[in-house]
Amino acid sequence: MVTYLDADAAPLRNTGQIRLYNEEGFKGMRKACQLTARCLDALADIVEPGVTTEALDRFIFEYGMDHGAIPATLNYRGYTKSSCTSINHVVCHGIPDAKPLKEGDIVNIDVTYVLDGWHGDSSRMYPVGRIKRAAERLLEATHECLMRGVAAVKPGARTGAIGAAIQSYAENQRCSVVRDFCGHGVGRLFHDAPNILHYGNANEGVEMRPGMIFTIEPMINLGRPHVKVLSDGWTAVTRDRSLSAQYEHSVGVTENGCEIFTLSPGGLDRPGLAS
Ligand code: MF3
Ligand code: CO
Ligand code: CO
Repeated sequence: MVTYLDADAAPLRNTGQIRLYNEEGFKGMRKACQLTARCLDALADIVEPGVTTEALDRFIFEYGMDHGAIPATLNYRGYTKSSCTSINHVVCHGIPDAKPLKEGDIVNIDVTYVLDGWHGDSSRMYPVGRIKRAAERLLEATHECLMRGVAAVKPGARTGAIGAAIQSYAENQRCSVVRDFCGHGVGRLFHDAPNILHYGNANEGVEMRPGMIFTIEPMINLGRPHVKVLSDGWTAVTRDRSLSAQYEHSVGVTENGCEIFTLSPGGLDRPGLAS
């Protein structure tokens, strides 16, 4: 049995109950998420061959500091960077390092700023210079998966409707959905109930209610869905080394659908426009 409760009355830890936020919560999320979106917009001009993911991470840290925000990943469960940077066959949780990006790479940059206690969690794909048609196709399919998932968000439906929409589109495009990671409740906490699966059936999961806030962040592979985590304890890669992509939005359930908090102010949050 799931229970829903007023976010203001809930303890500040994941108890498995589902927080329902009021207008004040939505206002706080708008601000935090728009800061994240503006940072992701700015990164579009910085990503190019020769740039290291460490340099991108430093920019993300400083951009946050300049705007009164702290990256949620800093010292999160032993993670020590301000972002995750996942290149090519890295599915998620790639750790920024000193290796330069090269022409033809695709990189996911995942940023979560904490602003006034609110968590703005979003990620996008960035092509490095010119990329292959197969990579372009994967970015387009993955972004479409995210937006089809978002379109399934409405009160009364179950969270499984999100996963069902994503899985059917991905598999129709001859891609696969990673099962090992999921979206999550977000707001006052970085990772909260409920889990948002990116596969499954529309009649599964919990019923969505106005005031719920969560992420949708499908990881889509050109090959098989299976992943393994490298010995650093974080970096998840495709077992078959096929290319993987991910896009993430933070959304809030409204009376008649949803609000996307992390939309790009510059219209740069879809493939083809960030170069
Ligand atoms: N931002 C990631 C997410 O979308 C979580 C990264 S946790 C880290 O949920 F520790 F790996 F940074
Ligand atoms: Co997330
Ligand atoms: Co994220």
